[in-house]
Amino acid sequence: MIDRGRLLGRIWLLGTLVFGAGGLVVNAVEGPPQYVQDEVYMEECGACHLAYAPDLLPVVSWQRVMSGLEDHFGDNAELDDETRAHITTYLDANGLDPGRPAKMSRLLRGLPEPPPIRITELPAFINMHYRIPIELERDELPEGFLAPCADCHKEAELGIYDAERLHPGYGPAVWDGKATEDE
Ligand code: HEC
Ligand code: HEC
Repeated sequence: MIDRGRLLGRIWLLGTLVFGAGGLVVNAVEGPPQYVQDEVYMEECGACHLAYAPDLLPVVSWQRVMSGLEDHFGDNAELDDETRAHITTYLDANGLDPGRPAKMSRLLRGLPEPPPIRITELPAFINMHYRIPIELERDELPEGFLAPCADCHKEAELGIYDAERLHPGYGPAVWDGKATEDE
């Protein structure tokens, strides 16, 4: 079993982060979300983890996620037909699709066939985070290591992932020696 907290500690150099029991960060989130929200989705798909914004995965990947809920990364996330249809319609309408303008359309780059069902396995996602395995001195990260986006992106629940809006004391500013203790 990989000690994710200890590994992460190696990149949280300034130690300003407070990890709770589940490895989640205690952090208030304010302001309107930057993506179309759906109450049913937030409730059902936010029960075990962050309700991932629909524009973080291609529609084709969401369809694969939604058709395999009985074995969802080792968990059973099955829904009744009506709820599943509702959520599938929401993800079809708001997921990434070539030709549909979206803030996160970069994530469609280099999409393999079949498309991954993890955001964290999209080639563009891996590129965006290429420095993390380097900083951790690992060839690759354990599966799902970056799945809890909010550990690092303080406004993940709002769908905001700018590299400048990570938790303080973390990321490129620290790696490049530009962060200060009172940042
Ligand atoms: C019963 C708990 C549970 C529910 C409910 C649940 N999930 Fe998950 N989900 C998981 C687990 C466990 C993982 C794997 C997490 C990991 O690897 O750290 C996961 C991972 C994911 C990932 C991949 C994250 C990555 O690595 O990029 C996506 C996408 C996802 N879930 C979507 C959904 C959607 C959509 C729903 C609602 C239909 C949903 N989940 C409901 C437990 C759940
Ligand atoms: C361990 C910390 C960590 C986790 C977990 C993490 N990220 Fe990141 N993310 C970063 C860092 C650090 C950067 C900036 C990398 C750089 O600029 O070299 C980044 C960059 C990004 C960017 C590009 C931002 C920009 O300004 O170009 C996106 C989009 C993003 N992350 C989305 C996500 C999503 C979605 C998740 C969860 C599925 C996630 N990240 C999980 C640390 C993390």
